[in-house]
Amino acid sequence: MKISVVGTGYVGLVSGVCFSELGNQVICVDKDQRKVDVLNKLQSPIYEPGLTELIEKNYREKRLEFTTDLSYGVKNSDIVIIAVGTPPLPNGEANLLYIEQVATEIATEMNDYKIIMTKSTVPVGTNHRIKEIVSNLTKFPFDVVSVPEFLREGSAVKDTLNPDRIVIGTESEAAMKILTDLHKPLTDNIIVTDIRSAEMIKYASNAFLATKISFINEIANICDKVGADVTKVAEGMGYDKRIGAAFLNAGIGYGGSCFPKDTNALVQIAGNANYDFKLLKSVIEVNQNQRFNIMEKLKASLTTLSGKTVAVWGLAFKPNTDDVRDAPAFEIISELVANGVKVKAFDPIAQENFRTQFNHPDIQWCESPLDAAKDSDAICLLTEWDVFKSINLFEVQNVMANPVLIDGRNVFSKEQISLTKFDYKSIGRPG
Ligand code: UGA
Repeated sequence: MKISVVGTGYVGLVSGVCFSELGNQVICVDKDQRKVDVLNKLQSPIYEPGLTELIEKNYREKRLEFTTDLSYGVKNSDIVIIAVGTPPLPNGEANLLYIEQVATEIATEMNDYKIIMTKSTVPVGTNHRIKEIVSNLTKFPFDVVSVPEFLREGSAVKDTLNPDRIVIGTESEAAMKILTDLHKPLTDNIIVTDIRSAEMIKYASNAFLATKISFINEIANICDKVGADVTKVAEGMGYDKRIGAAFLNAGIGYGGSCFPKDTNALVQIAGNANYDFKLLKSVIEVNQNQRFNIMEKLKASLTTLSGKTVAVWGLAFKPNTDDVRDAPAFEIISELVANGVKVKAFDPIAQENFRTQFNHPDIQWCESPLDAAKDSDAICLLTEWDVFKSINLFEVQNVMANPVLIDGRNVFSKEQISLTKFDYKSIGRPG
């Protein structure tokens, strides 16, 4: 198939590259000339394992192009994928400005029948709005289809090439057949439904996963009080197929560009339909408070924070990404600095991204986990990067002023810690 993808963020770029890997002819379009220049030098503007290799391979095999020319993309494709951002408005609602602009531009550049496939996460009813915009501006036939994306950052290529399911929301039999064939090499689990349900599946999935995380985080907080171990509790729960083991890792709460944005947007979508989504509001509140759980533990170990030096290990919202959007590290470091703490920060990949968004005279940027730990009174581990998991804890304790380790991701086992001198606290694993 001939495909163009508008928007080369995580979703657009990874989808475009993976469709070319499947043998399709793909044109990736972005209005940001800088991004397109980087891509044309066969580099990836985002850190995503395996992506650069696929960009190089498919570009050299002439199945993949990058351009700022939307007209060229639309005119030379049968399927136009919309994958532009839907950032939150101040009230939490998704901002559909970019979607509407792109729909308008696609409509004016059409030269034949097109399938307009939306991959951006959009509120229920948006694809009908796209249909309305396009039909007002073109005489050519087209179908609008919602195919929400479920990839995770850090494993985006793997998730896209091995999805659990593909959801196709459409009103058109012809588009359904074409898109089923397009996705068939990826999975047999293809769910065909109406457009509104497809839009809702995406929000409901993210909201449910966020609910699982806030649920286990509250169980962890109770475990701390009653002396139970949340990792064992989660393991014991997870074997029940109705519950499942995934997304039951307690920690400092979820961040990133999706869960915070999509949970707030779903609360708004419900509210606009006169429904008070109480459960999801609590999920959001629990997540917000969970970020400060680690501060309480740090205070308990250090007694006073003012004048202390604290190493922060991990700034990305999760490992294997350089993305720091809505990373818990922002609020935690702000709180540390506000309490008179000198912060020594280290992240193996996301440090530069974080530093450009948040710098402060009381933050020292470090070159390694050991460099950050040196002369510190405590370490707060915020992201479970492999480099932290495999570190020699004896070396770490020896360079610290005071061996306190607050593990916000339950990375280390009690056995590992018992051999060291660390005053160690984690989430929901007392003693
Ligand atoms: C999430 C969804 O998992 C994807 O299916 C979806 O496509 C994507 O949002 C999106 O809407 O685009 P992502 O935000 O990349 O993907 O990352 P996740 O792996 O889901 O992690 C989100 C946050 O939850 C991270 O901060 C992570 O540390 C946290 N988390 C995850 C936990 O605290 N505990 C867990 O057990 C799992």
